[in-house]
Amino acid sequence: MKVLILAAGLGKRMKSKYPKVVHKILGKPMINWVVDLAKNFGEVGVVVGHKAEVVKGYLSDDVKTYLQEPQLGTGHAVMCAKEFISENEDLLVLYGDVPLLSKETIEMLRNEHEEKNNQVTVLTFIAENPAGYGRIVRTDGKIRIVEDKDASEEEKKINEVNSGIYIFSGKFLLENIENLKNNNAQGEYYLTDLVGMAERVSTVLLEDILEVSGVNDRVQLAELESIARERILKKLMLSGVTIVDPVSTFIGPDVEIGMDTIVHPFTIIEGKTKIGEDCEIGPYTHIADSTIGKNVKVIRSEVEKSIIEDDVSVGPFSRLREGTVLKEKVKIGNFVETKKSIIGKNSKAQHLTYLGDATVGENVNVGAGTITCNYDGYKKYKTFIGDGAFIGSNSSLVAPVKIGKGAITGAGSVITEDVPDDALALGRARQVIKEGWAMKKREEMKNADNKE
Ligand code: UD1
Ligand code: CA
Repeated sequence: MKVLILAAGLGKRMKSKYPKVVHKILGKPMINWVVDLAKNFGEVGVVVGHKAEVVKGYLSDDVKTYLQEPQLGTGHAVMCAKEFISENEDLLVLYGDVPLLSKETIEMLRNEHEEKNNQVTVLTFIAENPAGYGRIVRTDGKIRIVEDKDASEEEKKINEVNSGIYIFSGKFLLENIENLKNNNAQGEYYLTDLVGMAERVSTVLLEDILEVSGVNDRVQLAELESIARERILKKLMLSGVTIVDPVSTFIGPDVEIGMDTIVHPFTIIEGKTKIGEDCEIGPYTHIADSTIGKNVKVIRSEVEKSIIEDDVSVGPFSRLREGTVLKEKVKIGNFVETKKSIIGKNSKAQHLTYLGDATVGENVNVGAGTITCNYDGYKKYKTFIGDGAFIGSNSSLVAPVKIGKGAITGAGSVITEDVPDDALALGRARQVIKEGWAMKKREEMKNADNKE
């Protein structure tokens, strides 16, 4: 089947400059929670309207978009996407602001729809307070949905309500969508009116109503975030990951973590991140969009868009930026920053270092305070360090520059020229000794004091 996501609404109560559906839950925009779910079932279309260009910016290229301008109701939204609907395929309708719906629920809805050969199948739930929702009205085996604002006092008492999620037969939709009228309390084209027009229609009752909870304001945004968070952490723990303190741990929906990995408190892991088995992550660590191997330690550090191989240790207080690759057994220590750099197997940069646009070989020791000077205010330049090189403490490697295999740079050197393999490079002023100078100075100062 195809999936159409309605996301044209304004979302006034968010009190935001940005469209509602791009607000994030666990680091992932709401619309992408829905799109990723939808992709399990078929081709995806999104109806956009309010701040359409901003919403489109969050969608992948394989998602089709349809503009609804102005927004005249949910029925009108589907009309605007008429060319997306095909006669011989079912259409699942989802909302862009209902992010926690599960795959299992949609499968249930699809099974019902296919078994009954329905024209429409509606996902419903029992609301403690049904105000605001469309009511499911059943008379003589037929089903209609009556919107809150159009409901009689009797109908208002019905507590089975419309979730807004349906499967339609494409043929039924194409034949009837243009017949919707807007002669109702809100002057809108209601998608719900199609339910009353159908001959073959049934409902599926959802137990877990959190799945169909929408986000209307930032209080609900935080509520859904906390529910999503709890569910993700529980699933990870049951799959063999130790989460020391679930209260202070935030893990996104697209994160995978291997068995026997331990996540320490105050840790955020988000984006498309994969972590292997037997790792120790945290405390106080933030990892986004990265791939981490087995038996890796990351303590009190920031890791973004990086690849870390097996048996590496990072931190405390390291920052791995975009494009960092740490090969097996690398050690990155205190106050070290890396960016677009590949660090070879077994190499170490343990203290106070910046490695940017650098390719570092295997078994290299990068001394404390080493800086790759990769930027001259106009362009970025590359640094190459050969296998087995030893970079003395406080070296400045002025790129572009190449340090040969097995070469040594003296502590405090400013290296501006390439260093051949196995050479020693010194780029600093020679030391001068002045015998007795300090003592003479002290005496001079003492005499000056006595005169005052
Ligand atoms: C709708 C249903 C109601 C159901 C409720 C569940 C109709 C007429 N009513 O209510 O039966 O109980 O959802 O939440 O369908 N949207 C558009 N274009 C529009 C209007 C809305 O894209 O012109 C989108 C919104 O962005 C939102 C979704 O459709 O994602 C639902 O809109 P909303 O106004 O919240 O729903 P209601 O019409 O109040
Ligand atoms: Ca409305």
